[in-house]
Amino acid sequence: MKLLVTAGPTREPIDPVRYLSNRSSGRMGYAIAEAAVSRDHEVVLITGPVNLDPPANCEIISVETAREMYQAVQSNILSCDAAILCAAVADYRVAEVAPEKIKKHSDTLTLRLEKTDDILGSCRSAFGFRGILVGFAAETENLESNARRKLEKKDCDLLMANDVSRKDIGFDSRENEALLLSRDGETKKLPRQDKRQLGNLLIETVEKKLIDRVETR
Ligand code: CTP
Repeated sequence: MKLLVTAGPTREPIDPVRYLSNRSSGRMGYAIAEAAVSRDHEVVLITGPVNLDPPANCEIISVETAREMYQAVQSNILSCDAAILCAAVADYRVAEVAPEKIKKHSDTLTLRLEKTDDILGSCRSAFGFRGILVGFAAETENLESNARRKLEKKDCDLLMANDVSRKDIGFDSRENEALLLSRDGETKKLPRQDKRQLGNLLIETVEKKLIDRVETR
């Protein structure tokens, strides 16, 4: 299959030297891309800025902002059989980016933020994608119910949810523990393990979904 993966954080500029971002390391998305390549799939990896070696044998598109990631997904998704949107996309960007470095003239500084476009939420409705769609949810409370709501709202086939309030797994860690929810109401608990193993499990599940879909046609 041909697979699109997004990974890492986005950076939203404040001025020419500063930005808003988040703690995503990109490890989960890169592990997914590597697992897919090792299972002989064609991979397009759309990545925000990370400190990781690019996985071998996949097409890499580097972006910075949520807007650039949106455009890269829009231009590539329709040629893919499945899309796994793992990136920690900024939900807000600075509404007026300063053209010059902001000087510290005052004791307080207020930045006005505006919402970015929801890339995962646009895959079906705006881009017309009909392949297997996998979302991620980073939650700090009510993990399963929030994740289920997100899966339905964004019309995903699968959603991987993790608890980012835990210090031992997630963002900067090599390991993760997750719930894997599917559209048919099933929830699988994926115990704590290396992100590469989790990536492999996820790709296996996507392969099965794709086969089921072809067989029920
Ligand atoms: N996502 C996206 N575009 C955005 C924000 C999020 O594509 N502008 C995607 C992420 O890649 C992830 C999923 O949406 O697959 C869930 O992101 P999350 O931030 O947890 O959820 P939100 O829907 O933004 O909801 P909230 O922040 O209110 O929990």
